[in-house]
Amino acid sequence: MNHDVCLTCEGLERYLGEEESRVHALRGVSLTLEAGTVHAVVGPSGCGKSTLLYILGLLDQPDAGSVAIKSEAVSQLPDDELARRRNELIGFIFQFHFLLEDFSAQENVMIPMRRLGRQTDEEMLDRSAQLLDAVGLGAKLKRPSRHLSGGEQQRVAIARALANDPDVILADEPTGNLDTENSNRAFALLQRIVAERGKALLLVTHNPQIASLCDWVHEMQDGRIVDARQRA
Ligand SMILES: Nc1ncnc2c1ncn2[C@@H]1O[C@H](COP(=O)(O)OP(=O)(O)OP(=O)(O)O)[C@@H](O)[C@H]1O
Ligand SMILES: [Mg+2]
Repeated sequence: MNHDVCLTCEGLERYLGEEESRVHALRGVSLTLEAGTVHAVVGPSGCGKSTLLYILGLLDQPDAGSVAIKSEAVSQLPDDELARRRNELIGFIFQFHFLLEDFSAQENVMIPMRRLGRQTDEEMLDRSAQLLDAVGLGAKLKRPSRHLSGGEQQRVAIARALANDPDVILADEPTGNLDTENSNRAFALLQRIVAERGKALLLVTHNPQIASLCDWVHEMQDGRIVDARQRA
């Protein structure tokens, strides 16, 4: 296994909301994700899991602390540079999938590839078809995503997150809307990509069975990581 560090964060603090309703959502979170490892973040609703993922995914900025991806400090970069790193290095699977509903499954998966602009149309069509096949949607490539079930839409979102072959995959309850079989299948796909291609995966999950299959489980409470256990 490759032990290069993919992503680190140090002392992340985040406040959300205004004045009296201001919430101290992250209170000093530090983490290291090595290439080839799968990490779970668990903890009660409202403890700061999504807030943490958004900051690690360069979708939000911390009030204090830092994020580094492949040893490069990224938290202070200007917005356009952040967007470029995000598109190139990070695959994000949202708690709610945010697909473009009039677009087909395949078009949704091709969006990040178009943004990066490194492949021909034919290459993008091929790669998106392969990714959708891997999540069990090979027969529904052309279907508008609004005509897919919730679980199918979530699988399109997983394929979309993998489109640009990111080094870091961040997933906010990626299997929350899936039945057991599809949930296991989606997790196994992510696990395989991590192991074979030296990626780092951090996923939020409420599923104890999935957490038990991760290399590390980080338990959050009130904006802090209160325990980190490595799988025996
Ligand atoms: N935009 C916002 N304005 C104010 N408070 C917010 C905002 N977004 C989140 N919060 C608060 O910050 C805290 C952390 O929220 P977060 O979404 O990170 O929790 P979570 O652990 O992902 O919960 P869940 O398991 O329900 O998804 C919660 O108390 C939440 O109410
Ligand atoms: Mg959340």
